[in-house]
Amino acid sequence: MKATKKHKRVFTHFLCFLCLFVAVLLATASQSPRPASVEQRVNALLARMTLEEKLGQLQQLDGEANGNFRPEHLELIRQGRLGSTLNVRGAQRTNQVQRVAMNESRLKIPVLFGFDVIHGYRTIFPIPLAEAASWDPSVAERSAAVAAQEARNSGVHWTFAPMVDIARDPRWGRITEGAGEDPFLGAAFARARVRGFQGNDYSAADKVLACAKHWVVYGAAEGGRDYNTTEVSENTLREIYFPPFKAAVDAGVGTLMSSFNAINGVPATANEFTLTRVLRQEWKFDGFVVSDYTSVRELINHGIAANEEEAAAAALNAGVEMEMVSRSYNAFGAKLLQEKKLSQATIDEAVRRVLRIKFRLGLFDRPYTDEAGEANALLRPESVRMAREAAGRSMVLLKNDRETLPLSKNIGSIAVIGPLADDRAAQLSCWAGDGHEQDMVSPLAGIKAKVSAQTMVLYAKGCDAKGDSTAGFQQAVEVAKKADVAIVVVGETADMVGEAASRSTIDLPGRQLELVQAIQATGKPTVVVLVNGRPLAIPWIAGNVPAILESWMGGIQGGNAIADVLFGDVNPGGKLPATFPRSTGQIPIYYNHFNTGRPPEAENKYTSKYLDVPWTPLFPFGYGLSYTQFKISNLQLSAPRIAANGKLTVNVEVENAGRRAGDEVVQLYIRDPVATMSRPVKELKGFQRVTLQPGEKRRVEFVLDREHLGFWNREMRYVVEPGEFRVMVGANSVDVLEAKFHVDAP
Ligand code: BGC
Repeated sequence: MKATKKHKRVFTHFLCFLCLFVAVLLATASQSPRPASVEQRVNALLARMTLEEKLGQLQQLDGEANGNFRPEHLELIRQGRLGSTLNVRGAQRTNQVQRVAMNESRLKIPVLFGFDVIHGYRTIFPIPLAEAASWDPSVAERSAAVAAQEARNSGVHWTFAPMVDIARDPRWGRITEGAGEDPFLGAAFARARVRGFQGNDYSAADKVLACAKHWVVYGAAEGGRDYNTTEVSENTLREIYFPPFKAAVDAGVGTLMSSFNAINGVPATANEFTLTRVLRQEWKFDGFVVSDYTSVRELINHGIAANEEEAAAAALNAGVEMEMVSRSYNAFGAKLLQEKKLSQATIDEAVRRVLRIKFRLGLFDRPYTDEAGEANALLRPESVRMAREAAGRSMVLLKNDRETLPLSKNIGSIAVIGPLADDRAAQLSCWAGDGHEQDMVSPLAGIKAKVSAQTMVLYAKGCDAKGDSTAGFQQAVEVAKKADVAIVVVGETADMVGEAASRSTIDLPGRQLELVQAIQATGKPTVVVLVNGRPLAIPWIAGNVPAILESWMGGIQGGNAIADVLFGDVNPGGKLPATFPRSTGQIPIYYNHFNTGRPPEAENKYTSKYLDVPWTPLFPFGYGLSYTQFKISNLQLSAPRIAANGKLTVNVEVENAGRRAGDEVVQLYIRDPVATMSRPVKELKGFQRVTLQPGEKRRVEFVLDREHLGFWNREMRYVVEPGEFRVMVGANSVDVLEAKFHVDAP
């Protein structure tokens, strides 16, 4: 009893002491200055800067292709006249440059090192179009995270990615770099990549600043010809081309890049509407915009500036804060200010935005990269494993008659044929960061590593990917005749995709189609594996060859991933993120088109179609097969009617009705059949990739609300109009179940 009382007293004393201690602690803390916020630090620094130093922060210059800096950079940095470089990389080199900024420049403003880390830094992942074919944004998030970790450890702070341009024209080579033709899928991948690159805080030692590009509508280049003009209505801008950028901005992307093209007569790099009204005012973006490579100076060629001086004024006044490679801001900024063609406020706002991002990156506090950590950050086994998995998840099985695939690993002999079969550079593809060709695994090497020791693997190139010679055909045919099965790997080389790689035809280049025909004619079971960076027109192959695997350009483990799929270790579950036309002449052909007043009818000549080719694509958007079969059934809506700002739950049953575990991508589309403006025949508004065991059944649920059901009306207001809506759910954009619901007037 006594003891308990005593304990209580001691406890009370202890509590009093604790309270006193906390009170003293709080009082001291409130007296000590709180750390300055980013905005305070930016403003304090800005107040100390000369005009020359301010303009210097708006300049970015190119390093050498091998990653080295140029001697001139050091001198400019010393003088405070260079804020950023591109292509300079490697911990040691970037530190060397950074030391000049931190020790020898007046204001010690760190340099921002940018680089195109598009689908990997050293561990190269599949091209972005391929990752979009996974319909699994977490694939892109993980690959961006690996890229960020490798890049940051190599001194790179900033990647010029993700490219989120919608591409409805596969002639355009840069379709490779994006997520394909659809804004909803594109937005999901934009968000995922930004998260992967930046994380929650891009000052972290394994994160980089991202850059959504190319702002905007660069993918609509007329004729698919790179850098070409675009003419796109504001509705289409807002509904098709803006959404992935909006998603990136909402995900916190720190920068955007202004594109090369003109938009309805006004170049994107001098476009006040897109740069200021939409980006800064409507979307409240507080990061900065960098021009594309010399796109400020190119305003002269566009014909909206007579000289570099006018170009500088046009771009900076419109809202491009940093100039890449051309030097108009620096050369003419002071003169423009003096002549009142540029205001001090405009310059200050641009510099403020650049500095804000440098602070958010943590560069002022941690300007250097740990040189000892660099090597250990690259090509980690788990990163390479993830690249293989990403490539497998990205592949799309386009055809598989009579279960030609998967092949048995114990097969007696295989002929591996074709110009891309042993091409490692094609797996690397364009924009391959610091990737090395020798790290890549070719399809041939992947197949050899996969089959049993008894299997004989024969190889013949057959022909080049480009060029006219058929001299190798005979050997290829002989090899096929000796084998139990022929795998023909055809498509595009690395230099046929990416920037400045537009093609006037999307047929298989060179003599490759004839090679496939010659092999098929041997009567041996033939499998075509496509290695390519864009949809290809392959009607003959689709009509005649029993099995086709779209493998894209798979990165460092591409060849192994192809073998994983061909031999059934991975059951393909990817779906096309872009329509595959039957012929180039069908372009533009995309699934979310308008109905027209005369939708195509076979028996009616005066309807919207061609005389010489069907109006349908060869493979539609969202298409892809599996080694198992899925059934989608029992489409149910939570209500027959909803309010204009209400929510509707849609669910459907998906069942694996085959004999293997596999993945299905359940896709939801809507249509607003009667509105004050024509609406697309279908619009993707939901998707889920699910893995099911044989016999397994699952309900998949989607929620639709105002964000999915509305559009930009004639007055350019976003509205949900009352009336009937259709909802369609299926395994691709064509084979769908359909239901209706009603949206009530408010
Ligand atoms: C491309 C950009 C790229 C930049 C820097 C330009 O030619 O259009 O996508 O980020 O170069 O390499």
